[in-house]
Amino acid sequence: TVVDNIAGYSYGAQELATSPVTMKDLDLLKQTITLDSEDSRYLRMAGDVLEDQTDSLVNLWRGVISSMPHLAYYFKDKQGNVDEEYKAKVKERFKQWILDVCFKPYDQEWLNYQHEIGLRHMYTKKNKTDAVEAPPHIPMRYVIAFTAVVNDTIKPFLAKKGHSLGVIEKMHKAWCKAVLLHVTLWTRAYCDDEGW
Ligand code: HEM
Repeated sequence: TVVDNIAGYSYGAQELATSPVTMKDLDLLKQTITLDSEDSRYLRMAGDVLEDQTDSLVNLWRGVISSMPHLAYYFKDKQGNVDEEYKAKVKERFKQWILDVCFKPYDQEWLNYQHEIGLRHMYTKKNKTDAVEAPPHIPMRYVIAFTAVVNDTIKPFLAKKGHSLGVIEKMHKAWCKAVLLHVTLWTRAYCDDEGW
């Protein structure tokens, strides 16, 4: 189903292309990352913990991006000023992504949207959803490298609802694997078929 109150969030939309990654590819990738049913269970638990913290999380990640000019650059307009409207729109989709990581079934519809997110970070579709004129392409290396931030900084947020250290650890492990899976799928947009 399409959540149509988030601008540009076209998860499940009819016009979305089918991912070039097959369900079989996805299965082997999940095996490789060792994302199993226990992880899925802890991911849903993480979702319950994170649900009311998505705004703070995105604010924190945004702070990291703003603090590094080479990353802040990708949210700037032609004049070199931060495009606040662009940031605000992307923020709502980013918040929804946190919930989707934890709660969505990793089915064909989900797979198709992962490919779309990859495309939205690069030449093909960056800026198009929000009709802005920011730099057109985020290098793949920064998308991969930023997983370090996303995975590190989530930990204290997972600890905020009084779970035992063991459970927090398991939620964290599941989150890290899931983010790795997402970002790996996004790299498909950047790579040709043979290379990926
Ligand atoms: C868009 C996540 C790395 C800049 C998005 C969206 C998500 C996301 C969920 C919204 C997708 C949608 O439209 O539904 C992530 C994650 C990253 C990552 C998890 C790494 C682990 C980066 C980096 C930058 C960046 C390194 C560089 C500043 C952007 C921009 C958009 C965006 C500018 C808007 C793209 C557009 O024009 O549609 N990201 N991102 N992201 N991200 Fe990232």
